[in-house]
Amino acid sequence: MSSLLLTGIAQLVTNDPSHGDGSELGVLDDAALVMQGGRVVWVGGVAQAPSADAAYDVGGRAVVPGFVDSHSHLLFAGDRSAEFAARMAGTPYSAGGIATTVAATRAASDENLAANLARHAAEMRSQGTTTFETKSGYGLSVADEARCLAIARQATEETTFLGGHVVPSEYAHDPNGYVELVTGPMLAACAPHAKWIDVFCERGAFDEDQSRTILEAGKAEGLGLRVHANQLGPGPGVRLACDLGAAAVDHCTYLAGGDVDALADSGTTATLLPGVEFSTRSPYPDARRLLDAGCEVALATDCNPGSSYTSSMPLCIALAVREMSMTPAEALLAATRGGARSLRREEIGHLGPGALAHVVVLEAPSYVHLAYRPGVPLVHRVLGGGAEPV
Ligand code: NIG
Ligand code: FE
Repeated sequence: MSSLLLTGIAQLVTNDPSHGDGSELGVLDDAALVMQGGRVVWVGGVAQAPSADAAYDVGGRAVVPGFVDSHSHLLFAGDRSAEFAARMAGTPYSAGGIATTVAATRAASDENLAANLARHAAEMRSQGTTTFETKSGYGLSVADEARCLAIARQATEETTFLGGHVVPSEYAHDPNGYVELVTGPMLAACAPHAKWIDVFCERGAFDEDQSRTILEAGKAEGLGLRVHANQLGPGPGVRLACDLGAAAVDHCTYLAGGDVDALADSGTTATLLPGVEFSTRSPYPDARRLLDAGCEVALATDCNPGSSYTSSMPLCIALAVREMSMTPAEALLAATRGGARSLRREEIGHLGPGALAHVVVLEAPSYVHLAYRPGVPLVHRVLGGGAEPV
């Protein structure tokens, strides 16, 4: 197995506090990194670097761990730009827009859905994302949910069954009948293709009891738990996620004090999705309150055609810093280690020895530029995470 030595790293973010400056980011200046067999095997000062079979001088650029986008909805067809334009003219966002995408997704061929997924995954990668989670949730029939997840499984191991996204129109008069479908035949057809189950616990989607029923059924099938909650208003979703030991509860836009305490006392990651607040012109979540209480926080894009049609983790980092009072270091940590923890993955989201060599070379001397230069394409090169053999 040949080894590769990266030199010329002006600033290396390891996310491993045992390296570098003693901060959580584990920053090393004038650094080098050796990878072998797809793993990081050594990091340190360039003067101490061991020899390797090949070398790559990154030319005085910063190197950061690949971003871990732990929340996206890439199995969809159709376009909702008119809904976005109407929203910017004053129409509020509602969960009801999901039905538009459900109709387009049901009508799309497998090839069309796979191509759409591949296009968005490539966008993510070109912006530094080396691991992404993605969900069903725009099929909402047994066959459409199952085929969406089978397609997703070809692209990522982080697949989530979201049959509990909204109640489709054919069940509008029997929402509990739909919950029975989700927890019965739909779960049976989808579980083989999924690592996670998710539910949208929100007014207009599923209430606390329905959400609990869906999550418990998924858990009994061996799926890990994720929850969409407290996006459009306060509600029981965050506490439910913590009670059930969910890996993540996502959105967290409207939080009561009890929600923050529950998160701080749990192993549940609060995933913040600032692309949603940006694209729905909503108030941003209170990241400071979560961080100051000691909660684990992740940042993700929530890339979807309705509430957040961005695949850009750098945009989310910039929004988190500018609009949510996170420091550039906190935002980068949340976009890497935070996402990894929410996916219960220890080998990604950092560049300490033993990590998968998912490496992003920035067109910048410092990671701070991710927030300092919003909207500028700052990813020079992406190594690892599927496309490039080491
Ligand atoms: O995460 N909140 C629920 N689901 C998506 C939005 C889906 C849509 O509007 O199509 C979200 O924001
Ligand atoms: Fe979402």
